[in-house]
Amino acid sequence: MRIIFTEDYEAMSREAAKIVSGQLYLKPASVLGLATGSTPVGLYEMLIQVHETIGLDFSSVTTFNLDEYVGMSPENPQSYHYFMQEHLFSRVNLKPENCFVPDGMAEDLAAEGRRYDERIRQAGGIDLQVLGIGQNAHIGFNEPDIKFEAMTHKVRLDDETIRANSRFFARAEDVPRYAISLGIRNIMLALRVLLLANGAKKAEAVYKAVCGSVTPEAPASILQLHRDVTVIVDREAAAHLPAEWKREAVYTF
Ligand code: PGA
Repeated sequence: MRIIFTEDYEAMSREAAKIVSGQLYLKPASVLGLATGSTPVGLYEMLIQVHETIGLDFSSVTTFNLDEYVGMSPENPQSYHYFMQEHLFSRVNLKPENCFVPDGMAEDLAAEGRRYDERIRQAGGIDLQVLGIGQNAHIGFNEPDIKFEAMTHKVRLDDETIRANSRFFARAEDVPRYAISLGIRNIMLALRVLLLANGAKKAEAVYKAVCGSVTPEAPASILQLHRDVTVIVDREAAAHLPAEWKREAVYTF
């Protein structure tokens, strides 16, 4: 695991953009795993800038999003389809037919999960998976006590996740209770993983992910067993990590 210590959200996003851009320069036909939420918005903004200023090319890139709320159509502004259109897909030269988000409207969600896994497999697997982290240490919508062997599947959102995500909705009751999410196994199958975390609210989750025991109670802790993980944290999110690690800008173990 490699931890990159940065000062703030902007610096975290810049470091992440360097890694994603580097991936695309090295392999223009990369398969990216993408995340929604507040965390990656700065990364997407910077990728758009790199696209506009020096022509970072997305024309051969394929993307797979981590998750979608059950029952939300792509036209719904609260959906993750919509989020991705707004924050990235419509602003770079990604081909619409190469951008995949799980279908939360599917009647048979188990079949949709299998179809999504098969699409990823046909695309050659995920080269670089971008992740945020929940305050409960979830990745994707893999909530505490998830089965580590799960592939894409329907999940019930944790009360803490519903509380955290209610900031995007008029009322907490409006937050969907179910989602379809890549499983931990999908994430572990990605060749490289990039986890971003900023703000004091994430400090405990980051500690559990990086320093805690590997346990389904803290789903992100499984990343300690992945062979190529980079975690980029800002100062606040790094608050509980050992002080001696922070003497270096990049700590590897
Ligand atoms: P956030 O969500 O980026 O909005 O903080 C992250 C997550 O829940 O995985």
